Amino acid sequence: MANAAPKLLIVGSINRDLIFYGPHGSQMKPNACLVFDSWAAYHGGKGANQAAAAAVLGAHPTLVGAVGSDPAGEEIASALKALGVDVSGVARVADTQTGLSAIFTMPDGSYVGANVLGANGRITPAMVEAALDAQPFDMVLMQLEMPLETVYRTHELARERGLRVILDAGPAQRIDLTRLKGIYMISPNEAETEALTGVVPSDEDSALKACRILVEAAQARYALLKLGGRGAYLYDGERGISFPAFNVQCVDSTAAGDTFTTALMMRICLGETLPRAIRYANAAAGLCVSRRGGLASVPTADEVSAFLREQEDAL
Ligand code: RIB
Repeated sequence: MANAAPKLLIVGSINRDLIFYGPHGSQMKPNACLVFDSWAAYHGGKGANQAAAAAVLGAHPTLVGAVGSDPAGEEIASALKALGVDVSGVARVADTQTGLSAIFTMPDGSYVGANVLGANGRITPAMVEAALDAQPFDMVLMQLEMPLETVYRTHELARERGLRVILDAGPAQRIDLTRLKGIYMISPNEAETEALTGVVPSDEDSALKACRILVEAAQARYALLKLGGRGAYLYDGERGISFPAFNVQCVDSTAAGDTFTTALMMRICLGETLPRAIRYANAAAGLCVSRRGGLASVPTADEVSAFLREQEDAL
């Protein structure tokens, strides 16, 4: 494997997360109130979680994003900088608020979220272009918590420079996959897969069917489904392979997908094979779900290596 820390460009959201724990029942009904035991505020947002994960896992991440003129924006940007994220591409937008995500944890460790886009709606293609022109990168990662035009243009701008792009396809929504022609990888979770393809990936046949739709529409090199406790499913245009998740106690799945995709991208940049990179990413995500919070729950490279050693010793 290569030794140099990969230089990663991450384009995406920055949020204040309010996470509610200890649900009394899990049904969302009109005119009814969900009741929880406690709540906590964290730094989050898919872009921020991914940039933090890249930094603590040992890469050199640059984040292109936007925060509002409120204290939350400044606090999160400072926390990211302290972790080693280059935040020179994070804009402070005067007349808007920093993004907010209310996350209601469910008894099974999954969550239901409600987001305010806020400043994330002001991430522009020009900001991405400026970051790409400022320095060389090994790979680009983006998600869907920002204007779709920025998503499509990020792909085009990266492609013009010969850079591989991964789309972490959350939050769940339908997008024009044909505007991502030639993308390296599309990686949705179960709900995002259904939103993008109309197929619920409940077993190997449906996972394969969904991946075929993704790969054909976007002419993508790979589709990689994140299936929570069921692990991951990779399709390379010819065949699909399942990768089981590690058996861990899930307390909060916030940022698990972000951690998985970032860990995967980093290991790909280091020259690891995809199956080994997916195993590493599954370990990183497993550690993430065993802790509370968004950005705060991301494991370090040492923790992931120790976890993988423990798993091998247990065999
Ligand atoms: O992927 C997890 C993230 O999604 C949370 O941190 C929350 O901010 C939402 O954007």
